[in-house]
Amino acid sequence: MVHDLIDQLYQTHHLTHAQWVTVLTDYTPDDQAYATQLAHALTIAKFGKKIFFRGIVEYTNYCRNDCLYCGIRHSNHQVKRYRLSKAEILACCEDGYQNGFRTFVLQGGEDPYYTTEIFEEIIATIHQRYPDCAITLSIGESTKAAYQRFFDAGADRFLLRHETASPALYRRWHPAYQPFEHRMQCLKELKAIGYQTGCGFMVGAPFQTIADLATDMVFTTEFQPEMIGIGPFIPHSQTPFKAYSAGNEQLTLFILSLCRILLPDVLLPATTALGTVQGNGRQLGVLAGCNVVMPNLSPLRFRKQYLLYDNKAGINDDAATGIQKLSEQMQTIGYQVVRSRGDFQPRKKEYHA
Ligand code: 5AD
Repeated sequence: MVHDLIDQLYQTHHLTHAQWVTVLTDYTPDDQAYATQLAHALTIAKFGKKIFFRGIVEYTNYCRNDCLYCGIRHSNHQVKRYRLSKAEILACCEDGYQNGFRTFVLQGGEDPYYTTEIFEEIIATIHQRYPDCAITLSIGESTKAAYQRFFDAGADRFLLRHETASPALYRRWHPAYQPFEHRMQCLKELKAIGYQTGCGFMVGAPFQTIADLATDMVFTTEFQPEMIGIGPFIPHSQTPFKAYSAGNEQLTLFILSLCRILLPDVLLPATTALGTVQGNGRQLGVLAGCNVVMPNLSPLRFRKQYLLYDNKAGINDDAATGIQKLSEQMQTIGYQVVRSRGDFQPRKKEYHA
């Protein structure tokens, strides 16, 4: 039954909500192995045994938001806050560039210190200095005008996980001043502006049901993102969700494979969270259909202050070590990391519903 639905997904790139529920509820290890194999074959057909790598610069851990799952939420007064100056951000990019990185991901909490003007200037300078590099933003919700200015200044991509496509669940994870509707509006605006846009969600977060995950798959199908960020929920000891258990690694891997089959061209990172719940999680992710990994370029002295969840992997690796370890990990499974921007490249429209 699930096997047939996976075939249907492969052929039509669409399942109904009820079918997603069936797939995610009734799958056996054999079904998962089948999805993994299909996803892996699709990834190799499109990208070869090559992995894109992106350098993340976590430039601020100040955040005005109060997401109940996140370690750098506004209400966590135990976090020592930091922010990087423009010069420090540029130094991270230079270090990354020297080590072969051709995509910089600027990621931060929603920190009003970086006004539109300041941030636009930072993007423009990176763009000028590294015209051969892609710039990805992962900076949360903003106005359409600001998004447009960042795009015009040279940003190419934007990651904004939708977190959950179920409004009721979204409200249990976020305070009232962070409405679901605004997040969805931001995602639509980003896409309309022309960003390669990434949505995504956590797997196994508190109160999340299989029906909620099915809703995420339906949303992902409708949204047609260029990138998808998915990782297991991992509790952070200084949040209201500290007592909940981490998301299931196998279910996360299965969902990653299903995402690959749904959207064969999508840029799909094997996330740090996946590498945190299991040491070889990122390799398993690649073998399940992921084609991107995102090592950290942030200054080592701030790494321990940018913890969205406990036991985050890779917090002691500088740019050179991060890329070296990653290359070795990938080599052991027969993959090679490639120095290119790695933009989203759609094939002919044949698979779009
Ligand atoms: N566990 C796993 N992922 C988390 N994120 C935030 N907190 C956690 C957590 N406790 C994810 C969110 C966010 C991304 C940057 O990190 O999905 O969008």
